[in-house]
Amino acid sequence: MDVLQTISNRRSHRIYKEEQIPEDVLSAILRAGLEAPSARNHQPWHFSVVQNKDLIQEIHDEAALVMGKGGSPRFADPDFQIFYYAPTVVFIFGEKDFSWTEVDCGIAVENMALAAEGMGIGSVILGLPKPAFRGQKADELRKRLECPDRYDFVIAIALGYATDMKDAHGLREEKISRIK
Ligand SMILES: Cc1cc2nc3c(=O)[nH]c(=O)nc-3n(C[C@H](O)[C@H](O)[C@H](O)COP(=O)(O)O)c2cc1C
Repeated sequence: MDVLQTISNRRSHRIYKEEQIPEDVLSAILRAGLEAPSARNHQPWHFSVVQNKDLIQEIHDEAALVMGKGGSPRFADPDFQIFYYAPTVVFIFGEKDFSWTEVDCGIAVENMALAAEGMGIGSVILGLPKPAFRGQKADELRKRLECPDRYDFVIAIALGYATDMKDAHGLREEKISRIK
């Protein structure tokens, strides 16, 4: 698919089928992440792919617990899960002592979102898991997700066959200045 069309077609999806995505498609998405540019080609990321429903739920529960009642009002809904029950979640951990970690991980996650879109896989980029890596279970979860030493959670992306449709978000042309 044409790259501009893929960018235009991408949406954040929040309803997924249970059906798992094929291994070769997942590998291509992960490769797109690894192919991202990074400052000084430092590649300050680590991708942990989780396809274990119980672990995904546990991370949701911990994020909800740490966030407490002050978190998103969506937590009041017992069916709400920060991962939207997607069958695959990729957690992106970044090197803590590198100036460009957040930018580089952001580029990598968008590469994955676009690769997924191009192959008919829905995605949503997720910041909400972050509190799970701030609470009492943080070290344990980092260990179970094979997060390297001196790395921490930056962002996640849920992947699966999406069943929701939505319009593109509004474009704000005033966000562009053209200086000639
Ligand atoms: C850094 C970042 C964090 C995000 N975190 C969440 C999240 O935790 N939960 C969620 O449902 N969407 C999350 N989103 C998705 C945004 O809400 C979404 O990109 C935005 O509403 C625009 O919609 P679109 O992606 O369909 O164009 C996040 C997006 C980004 C870039």
